Amino acid sequence: MKAIGLMSGTSGDGVDAALVQIRGTGHGLRVTPLAFRTAPYTAALRHRILAAATRGTVSEICHLNAVLGEWFAKAALRVMGQAGVKSSDVQVIGSHGQTVHHCPTPRREPGLGLIRSTLQIAEPAVIAERTGITTVADFRPRDLAAGGQGAPLTPYVHYLLLRDPRRARLIVNLGGISNVTYLPASGNLKSVRAFDTGPGNMVLDALVHHLTRGRQSLDRDGRRAAKGKVDARLLATLLTHPFLRREPPKSTGREEFGETFLARVLALSRKWRLAPEDLLATCSLFTAMAVGNARRWVKGPVDEVIVAGGGVRNRTVMADLAAIFEPAPVRPVEELGWKSQAFEATAFAVLAYQTIHGECANVPAVTGAAHPVLLGTIVPGGERRRTQLR
Ligand SMILES: Nc1ncnc2c1ncn2[C@@H]1O[C@H](COP(=O)(O)OP(=O)(O)O)[C@@H](O)[C@H]1O
Ligand SMILES: [Mg+2]
Repeated sequence: MKAIGLMSGTSGDGVDAALVQIRGTGHGLRVTPLAFRTAPYTAALRHRILAAATRGTVSEICHLNAVLGEWFAKAALRVMGQAGVKSSDVQVIGSHGQTVHHCPTPRREPGLGLIRSTLQIAEPAVIAERTGITTVADFRPRDLAAGGQGAPLTPYVHYLLLRDPRRARLIVNLGGISNVTYLPASGNLKSVRAFDTGPGNMVLDALVHHLTRGRQSLDRDGRRAAKGKVDARLLATLLTHPFLRREPPKSTGREEFGETFLARVLALSRKWRLAPEDLLATCSLFTAMAVGNARRWVKGPVDEVIVAGGGVRNRTVMADLAAIFEPAPVRPVEELGWKSQAFEATAFAVLAYQTIHGECANVPAVTGAAHPVLLGTIVPGGERRRTQLR
């Protein structure tokens, strides 16, 4: 069966589309990557998405839901075009969508009890209409409804694709936010631990955006940070962030490491007159140390660290991670045959495949859900009509 995974994370950098071949069922399935491509958002759209996530009006979010549906559909059509695969050969699309709000901390509603919520947009009906392919979306709400955090969901796929019989692995995803999955050697699904560790590229991207007055959106290859010196005072202050001390299950986002956090970092940087390079070096090390801090909650050795996500290309963060986890090797997921940038998209192809095969794919030990659940909302595909937008 061929499947497509579509993902846009908290970085809001673009839609990653992974086309894969999946064989088998349950925990024994095998996945072969066929094609991958990213449809980068325009700078204006990225800005609108990030703004919508903090202060979007209902009408803007409603409109963006349809706009992103078109972007996600385009990304799917393009990855099929690149591989020379027809939509009739693809059985399912798994679309994560774009998170605009994630609120796993329960709020009490009179007469109802504790309510948890999350909102991902990129209308799956648009994706199904443009591609003709059955589309599974909204993976998180069912886990939340079962009392979980609705995140992270990729640990299940880490377990399926990256577990090792002899070595305990820590899988690190360096997206906008960073998360880890601990896979003990020859463990089962119940022994998997996973949680967000803090910021990934989010703070670094935002700093570069600020320092270059919007001309650049990332510290390419970690080059600017590599020229700087870590400021011990700022580092110590950042390490007091309460999220780092919180017990898992825990997840975070722009609410904790977005604009307010950035403003605080910039205020301290001005007070202590830090050079931009030193500021980036300090925040890069903070990101890596927040990941290293995860060892407090994994019960067992870490024999190997496997890193995925766009942040693999940031050499400074990768070097910091290597120093922190030494003597355990820190290896990009490429060494296991997967593209860093494609792994999360691949994961949503696998999750959609499990859903249409009736397999539960949340990990209650990770999300805190009361029990395993079937993830997602299914929009049937059906005949693709060449709808032209006017
Ligand atoms: N060459 C590079 N150098 C440094 N950072 C990079 C590079 N390429 C990508 N990144 C980082 O990776 C991020 C995108 O990673 P991704 O895994 O897509 O995150 P998300 O899931 O949050 O969208 C970019 O925002 C950027 O910070
Ligand atoms: Mg991304």
